[in-house]
Amino acid sequence: MKPNHQQSNGLQLHQGRRNFLKISAGITAGCSIGLPSWAIDCTNTHPGNELRLPPSWNNGDDLIVAPGALEIFPGNQTSVLAINGAVPGPTIHLTRGDTFNARVVNNLNNPLVLHWHGLLAPERQDGHPRDQVAAGESYDISYKINQRGSTCWYHSHTNHLTAEQVYMGLAGFFIIDDPEHDALGLPAGDHDIPLVISDWRSNANFEFTYTPGNPDLMRGYLGDTPLINGTPEAYLCVDQNLHRFRILNGSTARIYKLAFSDGRSFQLIGSDGGLLSAPVPVTNAVLAPGQRLEILVDFGNISVGNSVTLISLGVPLDAGPSNPAQNNTFHLMTFYVEQASSVATPPTALIPITPLVAADAVVSRSFVISNSGTTHYIDGQLFELERVDFEPTQGKLELWEYQNTGNVYHPMHMHAAHCQVLERVGGSLLPEDAGWKDTVLIYPNETVRLLVRFDHHPGKFLHHCHNLEHEDNGMMQNFEILPFANADLQINFTGTSYEISWLVDASGALESTPDLSTDSWQPIAQTPILVNGRQTLTLPATGNQTFFRLALR
Ligand code: C2O
Ligand code: CU
Ligand code: CU
Repeated sequence: MKPNHQQSNGLQLHQGRRNFLKISAGITAGCSIGLPSWAIDCTNTHPGNELRLPPSWNNGDDLIVAPGALEIFPGNQTSVLAINGAVPGPTIHLTRGDTFNARVVNNLNNPLVLHWHGLLAPERQDGHPRDQVAAGESYDISYKINQRGSTCWYHSHTNHLTAEQVYMGLAGFFIIDDPEHDALGLPAGDHDIPLVISDWRSNANFEFTYTPGNPDLMRGYLGDTPLINGTPEAYLCVDQNLHRFRILNGSTARIYKLAFSDGRSFQLIGSDGGLLSAPVPVTNAVLAPGQRLEILVDFGNISVGNSVTLISLGVPLDAGPSNPAQNNTFHLMTFYVEQASSVATPPTALIPITPLVAADAVVSRSFVISNSGTTHYIDGQLFELERVDFEPTQGKLELWEYQNTGNVYHPMHMHAAHCQVLERVGGSLLPEDAGWKDTVLIYPNETVRLLVRFDHHPGKFLHHCHNLEHEDNGMMQNFEILPFANADLQINFTGTSYEISWLVDASGALESTPDLSTDSWQPIAQTPILVNGRQTLTLPATGNQTFFRLALR
């Protein structure tokens, strides 16, 4: 579909300014910079460390990326790569409809580009490695956020340096608020808590030493110590009320299977692309690198003074050599219930999601993901910065199939769109496959089908494995979204009606919506008539702003 509309709003392309400027190389290695605040006070002392919360950020502030040292592990300084002095970086918190404005300042000794994972950013602002800037340079970001409320994140996407830069700290939350969600009454404020899980490979110097060997290139660089928001042995003091946790797997490679130590059930309410249509009760959920899950947890049946631990059950099929192995159970963080409280009732319905329909797909693509030794391929090839591997057309529904012919997990991530998982061939869909996804875990020897429509920005974007060792070593492709122009959808607003027409050879259904940032498009029932080689119809204007699109078949 070519989105055409009356107001200059919505899907207009924002070609960002890229004002490069030299920043004097103020490298601050060795000096101590601020830790995220320790935001929640506990009444009692507990073993371990109180959960850190990332600092906040104001739209328009710089994002200054620089080396530094932080007391990640009590009593020890650790060399890190920090954003505005923090690991994880500050949480970018904006509302649907806002224009995201920031200057990214690279004070590293290496090139850098930041990617806004889950955001539908214009081509040259998405964080493609061809847009990385050299040490000492900076660049500006400015684009409008036109998508559903969701828990996204941002991280380094530097060519061949993504894994190391993320491992050393270059990641943070990017949360999109959505006025449409406010009425749901979900837990808010200090009952709405972001948790990013990463894992550290421990060593006596308390450093984030990144030296992957051959087994690490195979399965990824697995650590042995989970960090939650950069906190080792993290705990959080809570009351008994319902809590919303926005959980991000920011690890380079480790897959978690989230569960609680007492086997309690919790409710999945959101995934990569925002809220599900309804909460799904589960007792565990798999979270692969790059993915987000939002959950509701009710601590009402834990008496004050007791605790419950968030654990990872480990995933099957992969008994890798590192400690703990992927298939072991280990602790992530502990919740101490310190206050009695009534428990709010969770909503029974969330935000409707229109299912994509396989029969509507006009393009099918399959990707063979494989490995030979420690090298991982998409269709037998390794990434090249400028090579375009395929060209989707804007607005056309595509059916993608990832065929994993090897015995290694691959969390496959696409930029520029969210998808819906259609089928795990020979198996059934998992609760964590629900909703809009941008990262889908493909199990060893599994084929997964999904549906995707690139209906935001045209241009060159990436899909890749989010096991960052696999990505850095070439398990990535470029695709170029071609703007759809052939239908030549034209809309003339007369003051009382819309005169709409498009070229006859574009067969498709005209749809409309009053609000571009939802995914609820309504088909227009009226049948067009042929006038001078164009399909045409006239619709009365409603007085409200209306957006039209042609959904191509
Ligand atoms: Cu979160 Cu292209 O990555
Ligand atoms: Cu991404
Ligand atoms: Cu992979």
